[in-house]
Amino acid sequence: MVYLATVVGARPNFMKMAPLLRALDKYEGVTTTLIHTGQHYDSQLSDVFFRDLGMKHPDIHLEVGSGKHGQQTARVLEKMEEVLEDGPTGSGAYDRLIVVGDVNSTMAATLAAVKMGIPVAHVEAGLRSRDRTMPEEINRLVTDAISDMLLVSEPEGLENLKQEGHDERQVHLVGNVMIDTLLHQLSAARKLDVLEQLGVRPDEYGIVTLHRPSNVDQAETLGPLIDVMVQISRDLKLVFPVHPRTKARLEAFGLMEKLKSAAGVILQPPMGYMEFLALTSQSRVIVTDSGGLQEESTALGIPCLTMRENTERPITVEMGTSTLIGSDADKLRLHLEQVLQGTYKKGSCPELWDGKAAERIAEIVVGG
Ligand code: UD1
Repeated sequence: MVYLATVVGARPNFMKMAPLLRALDKYEGVTTTLIHTGQHYDSQLSDVFFRDLGMKHPDIHLEVGSGKHGQQTARVLEKMEEVLEDGPTGSGAYDRLIVVGDVNSTMAATLAAVKMGIPVAHVEAGLRSRDRTMPEEINRLVTDAISDMLLVSEPEGLENLKQEGHDERQVHLVGNVMIDTLLHQLSAARKLDVLEQLGVRPDEYGIVTLHRPSNVDQAETLGPLIDVMVQISRDLKLVFPVHPRTKARLEAFGLMEKLKSAAGVILQPPMGYMEFLALTSQSRVIVTDSGGLQEESTALGIPCLTMRENTERPITVEMGTSTLIGSDADKLRLHLEQVLQGTYKKGSCPELWDGKAAERIAEIVVGG
């Protein structure tokens, strides 16, 4: 029997782990234990994803909750060590740990396992924004530096890991597990009546999501972005599901009222995976600072205006439908106008973003 521990913590982890669990389930002689760190605990950021993705409930819940980076990371580290020490029921130790993405939970769980001699497989390895002010970039660097198997979603990741001195035998280009989930769920999502409920029609609205500290934590940055959205919403309705961090800042800066009084802006609480996929897949444009949405929009062929100065996912700009806008309100307006006029670039879907990445990963991890 091979005993695998798998870890999720925050919203973008769930859709990456779901196809992996499904692929691993097909192997006889493999037992997986799903550990939820509890970094995200609101039902809209966590529970709803388990339901939407048909994922088993976590076998172990660490309930670490929110906190400063050091606190949150330390709590995961301490609790993961205990869980890994306990081992799977009926056996001495876990054979491997699988982590996904770049959130605090990913890095902390990796550190706990590696120090106990448990090999770690990192899914979505090798991505680099080269922006060390992003907590996720630090998490990526640390996780990759100490992981044993590095499973990469786009070719530049191979190059980054080579430059950092990783042994080629550790590194595998496997494709994108997030797109596995998207392709698996797309037709069911599009049958939902969420567009009718929000009063929008296919191709006649945009989606906005913002939550990165660089965009939402300063009033001088967030204010002008909100002004452009209010202006654009006169020509194109905008659906804006608001992340808890962003909600707090909008309220603190007195910007929430501006959004509420704009007739074309449809404010929503954070949405479940299926509802949100129904919306993104039928939208005209996506304005976002999310990492995952840059990839999902490229897979869907929908323009993505990325509110970041840099990206760890360059293929979405070079080959896909994304353009880096930074926090530049004028650039945002210009590109939204291109979308509305139909002159915005077209993109294509990267190789291996084909719905089968999790199967390739399962083979490597079980075999390895
Ligand atoms: C985290 C990840 C980020 C990911 C994002 C998706 C890190 C460093 N960042 O950022 O990479 O893109 O999740 O959402 O791991 N909060 C709630 N309810 C919750 C969870 C958080 O209200 O269920 C509040 C917290 O109190 C905190 C804020 O949201 O004030 C931020 O939460 P946190 O998990 O620390 O980081 P995110 O900004 O969500």
